[in-house]
Amino acid sequence: MTSNTLLPQSVEARRALANELNSRFATAAPEEVLAYFLQAYKGRIALSSSLSYEDQTLTHMICAIDKTTRIFTLDTGRLFPETYNLIERTNERYGIHIEVFFPEHERVQQMVREHGINLFYKSVDLRHLCCNTRKIEPLKRAMQGLDVWICGLRRSQSTTRTDMRMVEYDEADGMLKLNPLIEWSEEQLLQYVRSNAVAYNPLHKRGYPSIGCQPCTRAVDPGEDVRSGRWWWEDPNKRECGLHSR
Ligand code: ADX
Ligand code: SF4
Repeated sequence: MTSNTLLPQSVEARRALANELNSRFATAAPEEVLAYFLQAYKGRIALSSSLSYEDQTLTHMICAIDKTTRIFTLDTGRLFPETYNLIERTNERYGIHIEVFFPEHERVQQMVREHGINLFYKSVDLRHLCCNTRKIEPLKRAMQGLDVWICGLRRSQSTTRTDMRMVEYDEADGMLKLNPLIEWSEEQLLQYVRSNAVAYNPLHKRGYPSIGCQPCTRAVDPGEDVRSGRWWWEDPNKRECGLHSR
């Protein structure tokens, strides 16, 4: 907890605040929710973007409200070339600068030396080690000084996400987590993307509904679960990278 936080000091009060905000914005549109949070937590709020349909939609909404809002992405070093291109296209389109956070090279080097470059296929523990090294540690650095992190989670994305709420108190990080699109269906999301010509990853049109790192993402057949191409070799009820299940 930093002294200049805008959040109440105690964990109980922070949980109560999350409940209060959920009730207050229960029927509000994502733009309305974002407008409130971007103003109330200005300077202490950021979007964590993986450049997905969801995050590009949030970027579009945020840029219409306040382009000075921090937007960051975690470059694991294993992303698709299409994702890197989308970072550039998005920066150019909105005149923004998406911050890119990298893993600590020494940690990556030691991990690869000990377990190999493609360690994630060897065991769930090694997959978590890779996600921790390449995503979670950089996320911690990216989050410094924040009271609120905005994410593109939607309840219907996965069985692991059905209990998530729009505003949560994220105890692991001591801050509020805001999921403005939590209630949106895939149809609503795609409708918004089409209507607003939101820039998206071309891989979506090649069978990749959910895109993460290249070695841990594969194309899925039409009608298959949207996240079934992520860590497809693991138990579907436990497939989270740790960003949202710490
Ligand atoms: S993951 O945990 O399985 O990788 P998913 O791809 O569904 O997550 O993304 C959910 C949300 O997590 C995104 O909307 C975004 O807020 C955040 N996120 C995921 N990957 C990244 C990334 N590489 N950089 C920044 N934020 C990310
Ligand atoms: Fe490593 Fe795969 Fe996790 Fe990316 S998704 S950080 S490559 S295990």
